[in-house]
Amino acid sequence: MQKDPISLVVFGATGDLMARKILPSLFYLYKEKKLPRGFRVIGVSRRDISEEGFRGKMRDAAGKFDEIAKDKRLAGFLKLFYFVKGYFRDRYTYEDLKRVLEGHDHKIFFYLAVAPKFYKHVLENMQKAGLIHQNMFLLVEKPIGLDLTDAREIEKLFAKYFKEEQIYRIDHYLAKSGMDELFDFRFRKKFLEDIWTREYISSIELKLWEKKDVGTRGEFYEGVGALRDVGQNHMLAMLAYVAMNRPKAFHGEAVRKARAELLRTLKIYNIRQAKHFAYRAQYEGYRETKGVKRNSKVETFFRVTAFLRLGKLKGVPITIESGKAMPENCKEFVVNFKDRKQIIFPIETHAVKYQYVEEYKKILAYAFAEDDSIFLGRDEVLESWKFVDSIVLAFKKNLVPLKFYEPDHYPKI
Ligand SMILES: NC(=O)c1ccc[n+]([C@@H]2O[C@H](COP(=O)([O-])OP(=O)(O)OC[C@H]3O[C@@H](n4cnc5c(N)ncnc54)[C@H](OP(=O)(O)O)[C@@H]3O)[C@@H](O)[C@H]2O)c1
Repeated sequence: MQKDPISLVVFGATGDLMARKILPSLFYLYKEKKLPRGFRVIGVSRRDISEEGFRGKMRDAAGKFDEIAKDKRLAGFLKLFYFVKGYFRDRYTYEDLKRVLEGHDHKIFFYLAVAPKFYKHVLENMQKAGLIHQNMFLLVEKPIGLDLTDAREIEKLFAKYFKEEQIYRIDHYLAKSGMDELFDFRFRKKFLEDIWTREYISSIELKLWEKKDVGTRGEFYEGVGALRDVGQNHMLAMLAYVAMNRPKAFHGEAVRKARAELLRTLKIYNIRQAKHFAYRAQYEGYRETKGVKRNSKVETFFRVTAFLRLGKLKGVPITIESGKAMPENCKEFVVNFKDRKQIIFPIETHAVKYQYVEEYKKILAYAFAEDDSIFLGRDEVLESWKFVDSIVLAFKKNLVPLKFYEPDHYPKI
């Protein structure tokens, strides 16, 4: 358990991320006595509510989780919550926040649960208010940018105010139980390392299929498409776990270094090569979704085959594929061996009631313990964008033709 008191400042505290993920995860950490003594949450948003109003809103959000709603500890938990009302661009917001933090500024986590367009204002204003110091950390969600240039800008901004070890970039796929098990499986048994090579393995496939279609998220989806929504981040982070070399240590910086090194060895396609290695499709009916253009070319399915330029798996095809409106939900890796044996790893290995909550609980616990192994490093973010960027461009330029598939059916490749 952490000894130093921690203040968690959540910018965008009245939003969806707080209500559905951060809040319930914090509750379970509280219930399991895994929060340090003196832990507090300070919510910041423009909503015109009092501290009591904020706590009421948090109570309502917690009420959506039946297990939490009936737990007697909820009232005590809500007393940890404080509120600062204000706009992100307004410097007085930060003066108010400073006053609330006074005497509680030992160790602070700033969670940017806000749209990326606000990052600059929030960080600039924090610095102007003298809120940035050594013993503080930044928690930030994917996506980091919409392309490589954008990601570089955001990273430059973060680096202006924080050292790399103060930044926790969240990709909740790295907190999935299957990742731990895969890690254990790959590195705790010596003989497996010996056969994890191109001499034994013929191909690797990573699948992330969702039975659901885009639902009400049409507008958001139009801006990103499947490859940027899950390929650039979740799937490449998983690919790194499947193919990386043994890290120097099994925790912290060593693990993310090993993932970044692996991503650095990905063969980068130019936009003309992309069509040989990438496939994209859209389910029929997607264009009728609210917020979607009638002639949309956005992919709801992609399949990309990657190769490594170096290392033991050099030349082994590693396919990442993801889609909406698929015949079933499926999140797994398949490792095909040359002797036709196969290993299938599920990515979610425990049946838990609230999958997200389990993952965010782990994310917050690791962050508070300052273990950055399940967080993305700057290099990982940029390397994965380097790989994806030209494919996205090839999609945009229609160099990879868009195919169509029937919902609930696998596209005909
Ligand atoms: N939701 C998720 O599950 C999820 C998952 C991964 C990543 N993310 C990312 O996390 C970020 C937040 O997502 P979200 O779903 O929580 O968004 P959201 O529901 O739209 O919430 C946005 C929050 O920001 C506040 N806000 C907006 N403009 C403001 C301003 N000018 N000044 C002060 N406060 C302002 C809102 O306050 P009011 O309530 O007062 O309007 C609200 O608290 C986004 O970048 C999203 O892509 C979200």
